[in-house]
Amino acid sequence: MTTLEAIKYKRGELQVLDQLKLPHEFAYDNVSTCEEAFDCIKSMRVRGAPAIAIVAALALAVELEHKKDGTKQKADTIKYINSKLDYLMLSRPTAVDLSNAIKLLKKKVADTAAASLTPDQTLACADVRQSYIDGAEKILEDDLTANLAIGRYGAEYLRRQQMPIITPVKDADSLKYYTTSPPGTQGAPDRTYRKLSVLTHCNTGSLATSGHGTALGIIRSLHKMNYLDTAYCTETRPYNQGSRLTAFELIFEKIPSTLITDSMAGALFSRMKEEKNISAVIVGADRVARNGDTANKIGTYGLAVLAKYHGIKFIVAAPTTSIDLYTESGASIKIEDRAQTELTQITGAVVDKNGKVDVNTTARVAIADQRINVWNPSFDVTPHELIDAIITEKGEVVRSSKGTFNFRSLMPQRW
Ligand code: MRU
Repeated sequence: MTTLEAIKYKRGELQVLDQLKLPHEFAYDNVSTCEEAFDCIKSMRVRGAPAIAIVAALALAVELEHKKDGTKQKADTIKYINSKLDYLMLSRPTAVDLSNAIKLLKKKVADTAAASLTPDQTLACADVRQSYIDGAEKILEDDLTANLAIGRYGAEYLRRQQMPIITPVKDADSLKYYTTSPPGTQGAPDRTYRKLSVLTHCNTGSLATSGHGTALGIIRSLHKMNYLDTAYCTETRPYNQGSRLTAFELIFEKIPSTLITDSMAGALFSRMKEEKNISAVIVGADRVARNGDTANKIGTYGLAVLAKYHGIKFIVAAPTTSIDLYTESGASIKIEDRAQTELTQITGAVVDKNGKVDVNTTARVAIADQRINVWNPSFDVTPHELIDAIITEKGEVVRSSKGTFNFRSLMPQRW
């Protein structure tokens, strides 16, 4: 295996990696109906804003490829598609990628139906179905292209924030430093820079997208360009997307990395500041409101406050499909509450006295008194004032001197 794939798709066949089993087991489930996709998303066997949208869109594509929906009139085919999409929409509420994908697909099939002039309704129904399948497949392809661009833009943005080391370190340790000419000054004499160390939260990599990832995509790109010192990842309680998924991806990609608990971020920032070795916090997004307020995994807001205090850049990496221009601010974003057992129980595998993990012994284990009341919001909202830049596949949007974000130039057609 050379790349991690959360989603495997070929026309008529969809397989989804069961992320509840990671990092102990690597198993794919066949998803061939919208009901199976709904369950897969709701139970978080697949998660991450882009991956949720892709699995929902492709599950219906698989159904349409096999079942031919049975309708006789194109209006009925559209009704059938729309009702399935409305159902999938209810699987998880916070990430906007799913509703953006659904809006796009509904419009595509409506436009196809309007343009289809054939009096033969069997043919017209087939056109509508095909148009849906093509649209869903394009969402998968576009996501990968977007992620690669985000990785590039993000790595370049962070590079541009760096100052060269005034007194170059003689025979600088190539693990800690890199040498190049300053950004935008081709041909200028090379300067020495300290490699970047960044912190990320939750999982925003290949497992959360069609591939490469958003925030983790930037880290991947930094590593590939040889600008990365260390990627720190938080455990990301309660669901542990950081320790179970991001740590797994970082190890898989051989990226120099260190895991911390969520509560260690403040201590890490003050230590790194002393050593002048902190560059940025990079996170993903589930929904970016029109004013830049960003809903992301619970704990993101706390990291942004800490980053501000320590003078560390706080960057959101998100495709434009995660931007919601219809929601004015974070105050209107619906935050999903999840089951209390996500806090009070955990899945683990037995470790023998030599530290060897027996992957065949996974079990659900109680880690708190099961009678305690629990509050388990899955996301929080980081106010735009705490965000320095939002990196999209179309480039970066930087907080203006007035403290605001403006997406007009990136998304003129949607503005
Ligand atoms: O609850 P999850 O695991 O779906 O939450 C995922 C996140 O919060 C991610 O940061 C976000 O969806 C972006 S993934 C590219």
